[in-house]
Amino acid sequence: MKALLKTSIIASALLALAACGGGKASTDESKKETKTFKISHVTQESHVWHKTAEKFGEELEALSDGRMNVEIFPASQLGLEKDMVQQLETGSLDFGFLTNAYMSTRQDSLNAWFMPFTFQSLKEAAAMRESDAAKQMLEELDSQGLVGMDFMFAGNRHVLLKDGAVQSPADLKSKKIRIIGSPAMQDFWEEVGAGPTAMPLPEVYTSLQTGVIDGIDIDLDALVTEKYYENAENLTLTNHMTFPTVIVMSKQVFDGLTEEDQKIVQEAMKNAVDWGIEEAIAREDKNLEELKKLGVNVQKLKDTPSFDSITKTITDKYKGKSEVIKSFLEEAKK
Ligand code: BEZ
Repeated sequence: MKALLKTSIIASALLALAACGGGKASTDESKKETKTFKISHVTQESHVWHKTAEKFGEELEALSDGRMNVEIFPASQLGLEKDMVQQLETGSLDFGFLTNAYMSTRQDSLNAWFMPFTFQSLKEAAAMRESDAAKQMLEELDSQGLVGMDFMFAGNRHVLLKDGAVQSPADLKSKKIRIIGSPAMQDFWEEVGAGPTAMPLPEVYTSLQTGVIDGIDIDLDALVTEKYYENAENLTLTNHMTFPTVIVMSKQVFDGLTEEDQKIVQEAMKNAVDWGIEEAIAREDKNLEELKKLGVNVQKLKDTPSFDSITKTITDKYKGKSEVIKSFLEEAKK
């Protein structure tokens, strides 16, 4: 009887130990569990936004000791931006590099980035990423089920025309200019007297080729990566606007992470965007050289003051719409 009791005590102890050991192992295992985040955006793989998303993946893997990584879906593979926002809201997509243009149709304050002739270079524009107004814009995204992570840039916007150059608004009168749909961009181009035609990137190449449009409002990186210069050869460097992407994370997914992992994600994104902005600035010069080599006729807009009254009309209108835009413009002037 004593021997039986002893055997059963030892067996119970061994079982308890095994249970303990098993628990620890599963905790360790769950720590090792890898999480692959899905990222979606609208540009080609050679575009600087895609490269920044890749950099984020590298940073994330390094900072999480391989526990977190990314899978990137470029060129609208997961649908249009409105679909992406829906997927982010439900948590079926983790991150979006969304055009500020599309997001400005959903949140007034984001039109701040499109106030005409605010920045003479991408470097100047990118510096405003650190502004209080930009941080407020990201915070406002919370009401849409999104965590605003950061702003990244594609380069300032210029004008590519099939014929002629831009030296004043008169050169754009009645020209059909492709724009990406955004309230401030639409208002600017209407005020210029052109015929703004909103269309998504994939339709632009053929529309230029067939003459459905006379020109486009574009950044140099998209111009090079999408090869629009094959159908229109006259580029005027206007710097009339900048062109950010709003990097967002699904709030549902973010809230499901541990505090430690939230910090890793934020740090990895900051590192990636710091890198991406340097890369985007370097690409402004490289892309320009490449376009010149390809035979594109490049000119600079010299008479910027000829746009002054248009700029005033647009900025007055948008300052009245949002306090954030007002303080953004005040900070940009400093
Ligand atoms: C555009 O539609 O003009 C665009 C979109 C994303 C990146 C660059 C340009």
